[in-house]
Amino acid sequence: MIEDNNDRIVSSGLNSDSNEKIFDQTLRPQDLENFVGQEKIKQNLQIFMQAAKQRNEPIEHVLLYGPPGLGKTTLAHIIAGEMGSNMRVTTGPAIEKSGDLAAILTNLEEGDVLFIDEIHRLNRIVEEVLYSAMEDFVLDIIIGKGPSAKTLRIDLPRFTLIGATTKISKLSSPLRDRFGNTYHLEFYTHEDIDKIVNRSAGILNVNFTEPCSIEVARRARRTPRIANRLLKRIRDFAEVKNQGQITRAIVDQTLEMLCIDQHGLDDVDRKILLTIIEKFGGGPVGLNTISAATSEEMDAIEDVFEPYLLQLGFLNRTNRGRIVTEDAYRHLGITRPSQ
Ligand SMILES: Nc1ncnc2c1ncn2[C@@H]1O[C@H](COP(=O)(O)OP(=O)(O)O)[C@@H](O)[C@H]1O
Ligand SMILES: [Mg+2]
Repeated sequence: MIEDNNDRIVSSGLNSDSNEKIFDQTLRPQDLENFVGQEKIKQNLQIFMQAAKQRNEPIEHVLLYGPPGLGKTTLAHIIAGEMGSNMRVTTGPAIEKSGDLAAILTNLEEGDVLFIDEIHRLNRIVEEVLYSAMEDFVLDIIIGKGPSAKTLRIDLPRFTLIGATTKISKLSSPLRDRFGNTYHLEFYTHEDIDKIVNRSAGILNVNFTEPCSIEVARRARRTPRIANRLLKRIRDFAEVKNQGQITRAIVDQTLEMLCIDQHGLDDVDRKILLTIIEKFGGGPVGLNTISAATSEEMDAIEDVFEPYLLQLGFLNRTNRGRIVTEDAYRHLGITRPSQ
């Protein structure tokens, strides 16, 4: 079965079709109570939002980072919602010039939340304009050129910037330092993913006739977005093949059709591991070389595939490159050549 790249179960972010967007919004928790897992972050946020509310101030800037699909955008919406703020949404690459940023900032109102997704992709010039906006709520605009150039200072309303990124290492330290709160979203436990699957099933009105949500959870790469996507595919499969009844057999058949194995690995994960094993003796091998040898984009390997392989303990990252572990050999059923 050939899958359209935009419809992959494991992909870096939101698939582009509008169906997926609606689906995503339907399942998106609206408040902290319905946001499953990430307990430490939730506790922290709760206190810190309550304190801001009591002082009648906007909350400090928040930076959210972690692999795609773990709930960064969801949390940003929840924070804005709980603070009763309007949220403006944009992305790093969409703000091309400092004038674009100035336009966004000067249109904000007191207490608004500005959400910048993929904030590591802001260009340097724009980033520098952001510093004074974040720190002092002012905008310095240079008018004219050469010796007659003047700086015009504009006051901005007090706003809260929420930045999200999959690559914290790509963020410059002056920018990182200007966030009052930084939260690292971790992969979820299977139990939490199980809760998310059941919650989503409830919203979508689908019934499991046998206990199978934990099986879905086990194969969802500890990622809520992937769990929801799997559920959707299983529902479709059950509607076509089994009058909508979701049984264990239906779950297994769907996952098999999608080539997702016991650990949630798909074809690309296996290709990455096999390439390192077969072409590079198991590593160490650099990311560029893996990318060239697998024809997968480096960003996708680094953001999407590698974090989960690292977390499973199938891959190790050393300063000489990536190494496939003993566990990965065992999982793939390949004997490791003696060193
Ligand atoms: N903690 C959570 N509890 C329940 N559902 C979640 C949670 N985190 C994410 N989701 C679901 O996963 C989907 C993807 O989350 P999103 O916030 O878009 O991830 P990110 O922005 O980190 O890529 C959301 O639509 C939401 O339904
Ligand atoms: Mg997002």
